[in-house]
Amino acid sequence: MSEKLVIFDTTLRDGEQSPGASMTRDEKLRIARQLERLRVDVIEAGFAASSNGDFEAVRAIAHAIKDSTVCSLARANDKDIARAAAALEGGNSVRIHTFIATSPLHMEKKLRMTPDEVFEQSVQSVRFARNLVGDVEFSAEDGYRSDPDFLCRVFEAVIKQGATTINVPDTVGYAIPELYGNFIRDLRERVPNSDKAIWSVHCHNDLGMAVANSLAGIKIGGARQVECTINGLGERAGNCSLEEVVMAVRTRRDYFGLDMRIDPQHILATSRMVSQTTGFVVQPNKAVVGANAFAHASGIHQDGVLKARDTYEIMRAEDVGWAANKIVLGKLSGRNAFKQRLVELGVSMESESDINTAFARFKELADRKSEIFDEDILALVSDESVTHENEHYGFVSLSQHSETGERPHASIVFTVQGKETHGDSDGNGPVDASLKAIEAHVHSGAEMVLYSVNAISGSTESQGEVTVRLQSSGRIVNGVGADPDIVVASAKAYLSALNKLHSKAERVLAQG
Ligand code: KIV
Ligand code: ZN
Repeated sequence: MSEKLVIFDTTLRDGEQSPGASMTRDEKLRIARQLERLRVDVIEAGFAASSNGDFEAVRAIAHAIKDSTVCSLARANDKDIARAAAALEGGNSVRIHTFIATSPLHMEKKLRMTPDEVFEQSVQSVRFARNLVGDVEFSAEDGYRSDPDFLCRVFEAVIKQGATTINVPDTVGYAIPELYGNFIRDLRERVPNSDKAIWSVHCHNDLGMAVANSLAGIKIGGARQVECTINGLGERAGNCSLEEVVMAVRTRRDYFGLDMRIDPQHILATSRMVSQTTGFVVQPNKAVVGANAFAHASGIHQDGVLKARDTYEIMRAEDVGWAANKIVLGKLSGRNAFKQRLVELGVSMESESDINTAFARFKELADRKSEIFDEDILALVSDESVTHENEHYGFVSLSQHSETGERPHASIVFTVQGKETHGDSDGNGPVDASLKAIEAHVHSGAEMVLYSVNAISGSTESQGEVTVRLQSSGRIVNGVGADPDIVVASAKAYLSALNKLHSKAERVLAQG
C-alpha cells in the first residue's frame, strides 16, 4: 500500500498576504468551495485573529465546507488560538495552525524573546490549542534558518503536547532542494517521537525553488504534507504552486510512490478563479495552467504530437481541465442551460437571486458577443458586482469619444451608495479620460501602481479583462473588470479597486 501525501492549500491565507490579493468573505467562500471540489485535504481559510473580516471568512468557510479540513492560522498565544477556535466552531473537520518564529534572527530582532521563552510559549500554545480542537499543526517560522538542536527540542515537546502536524517552513525562500530535504530528514531522525506527527513542508519561492524544495522535502525528508497555493500566489515571489507540485507527484508516481486525494480535472478552473478574483494574471508559460502549457508551436513538435502525443507531452491537457476552447452558450441559451454550465464549470452560486443576476449579465453579454466561452462565464461570475458585495461604487454606463488629433473625452455614470453620479473628463487616452472622470468625484488620491489588459479568450472579439492596482495610505488593492469594451472593463476595474480601498479592512500579517 502506498503512502498518502496531504495537500494543504494556503491560497486564502499565505496567498492572500500578497499585496493587492486581499479577498472579501464571499470571494474566499467561493474559492474554498472550488478547493473542496478539487479535493484538497486541508484549506487554510485565513488568520481569524488578524481582522474581523478574516474571522468571518474562516467562520463562513468552516460552516460551508464538509469534505476538506478547514484550518485557521493563529500566533502562539491564547488570544489568537481562542479566536481561531471560535471561528472554526461547528465545522465538520477543523484544525488550528499555530506558529512562532524559531530562528535566532527572528527570535532576537522580531520577537525580542529568548529561545527558552519561545520554547515555553510553543509548548503552552499547543497544549491550549489541543484542549480546544483535536487537530493541531505547529509551525516553526523561519524554521530552515533555525538551529536544528533547538528545533528538535521544540518539536519533541510540542508533539508530546499533542501536535498532530509539524511544519518546517522555509519562510524566506533561502533553501536549496538537497539541503532542505536533508534538513527535514535529520530532524525526523533526531526527534524521538517524530512518528507521532505528520511532517510538513512550506516553501517560499524567492529563489524560484519553492516547488523543487518541497519535492525534496517529500522525497528526501519524508514529509507527508505539502503546503502550497493556487498559481503559487503569495508574498514576494510567492509560495510553492499547488498545480506544479501535485502534477509532479502525480506524473512521476514511479519516483515518489505517493497517493493524493486531489481531482486534477478541477485544476484549471481553480487557477482561473483565483487569478480572476485577485487580479494576479497567470503568465502564459506557467507550467500546467499557463495558456501555452500545452501549446505546441514548432512544426516538429506538432507533427510529433499528432503521430503519438507522448513524443512531447508528459501530461494530458484534459486531465487538468483543459478542454477544446468551445462555444458553450449563446444568445438563445436559457437560464437552465446557463445554470447547468455553471455546475459543469464547478461554480456554485449561493442563492437563486445571485444566479438571476449572473444570468441577466450573461444575456447582456450575449447581446454584444455572439460566442460565449467558458472563460467568459468564469469572468462574469468572478465579477464581484454580480453578487453586489462591497458595492459602495457601482458601474452604470460610459460613453467616450476619441479621434486622431483630438483629446479624448469620457462621460461616465456610476453609483455611490446606490445614488447615481455623473462624471466628465478629458484624458491622454479614452481609458485615462474615463478613470479621471471617476476620480474627479471620488477624490481617492490613490496612486495607480499597475494597469494591465488581457484578452480572456484570445482574440479581438474576446472580452478584455483589466486589472488595476491602487496604493493608498500604505494599502495596496487590486480591482478586476471584464467587458468586450476595454474602456468599460477599465472603469469597472477601477471602481472595483476603489470598493476595496473603501472597505478599509485592516489586518495583522502573519510574517509582519
Ligand atoms: O512562511 C511561513 O513561515 C508561514 C508560517 C506562518 C507558517 O507562512
Ligand atoms: Zn509562508
